[in-house]
Amino acid sequence: MKLSYRLELLAQMCEKGKAMADVGTDHGFLPFYLLENQLFSHVYCCDISRQSLNKAVETFSNWGARFVQEGKVTFELADGLSDNIARNVDVAVFAGMGGTLIISLLNKISDENLPPFILAQPRNKPELIRKWVYNKGFTIDNEAYFIEGPRPCEIFKINTKCNNPSAHVTEKNNEIDLFFPYSILTAKGNLAQYLKRQKVRYTNVLKTLEDRTDNTSADERYRFFSELIDRINEMEDTLKRSMEAR
Ligand SMILES: C[S@@+](CC[C@H](N)C(=O)[O-])C[C@H]1O[C@@H](n2cnc3c(N)ncnc32)[C@H](O)[C@@H]1O
Repeated sequence: MKLSYRLELLAQMCEKGKAMADVGTDHGFLPFYLLENQLFSHVYCCDISRQSLNKAVETFSNWGARFVQEGKVTFELADGLSDNIARNVDVAVFAGMGGTLIISLLNKISDENLPPFILAQPRNKPELIRKWVYNKGFTIDNEAYFIEGPRPCEIFKINTKCNNPSAHVTEKNNEIDLFFPYSILTAKGNLAQYLKRQKVRYTNVLKTLEDRTDNTSADERYRFFSELIDRINEMEDTLKRSMEAR
């Protein structure tokens, strides 16, 4: 099976292990690929929707019925990830869902049962994922930035066992770092395209605030988004200089 660029990055960042869970699996392409390529020996395909989970069942019955017969795949109709599955996997993937939903699903798992690694690929609000990681004292071991169609995308590989409350102390205290930390500059993916797309997006937000009437909170938002764009410009310059130096 040929994966999309986004799913391929997720597969690479899962690395290898015994068991993984794909929460909000839908078509089940990622767990299927990981089994097919012998990167994991058991996969849990989890989804809250029967219709979505049926797509994963179909993927396996079309291309990998042997995995079902060999008991290497579990289909779980559930809201998020149960503690029972969470404690049995090396990595749990939460991809293609909103940032707020991912955080609420992560908060339902008790800390002691969190898998060693979590891959989060939020459809929006990546700052919420960073905030959760920083507040828990976890670390982001690997990250990727790219675009998919019109959408800027992020993937975070969160290490829940490397508890280091001071690891992200600067980022934790700076709201701009929650949106655009400097770690983006050394991440995987297509950083230039990602930054360009984000600049367009926040420039449009800024434009909508230009007609603001006398209102302190709108002024604050205007200042904040201006600072975000300054940070993006700074990162683009750094990236350009490092490309030129190569
Ligand atoms: C856009 S699809 C993402 C599919 C796949 N993970 C990907 O990234 O390509 C989102 C899936 O999340 C599922 N979902 C939404 N809320 C969920 C929840 N609370 N628990 C588990 N799955 C959920 C939906 O049913 C849907 O199948």
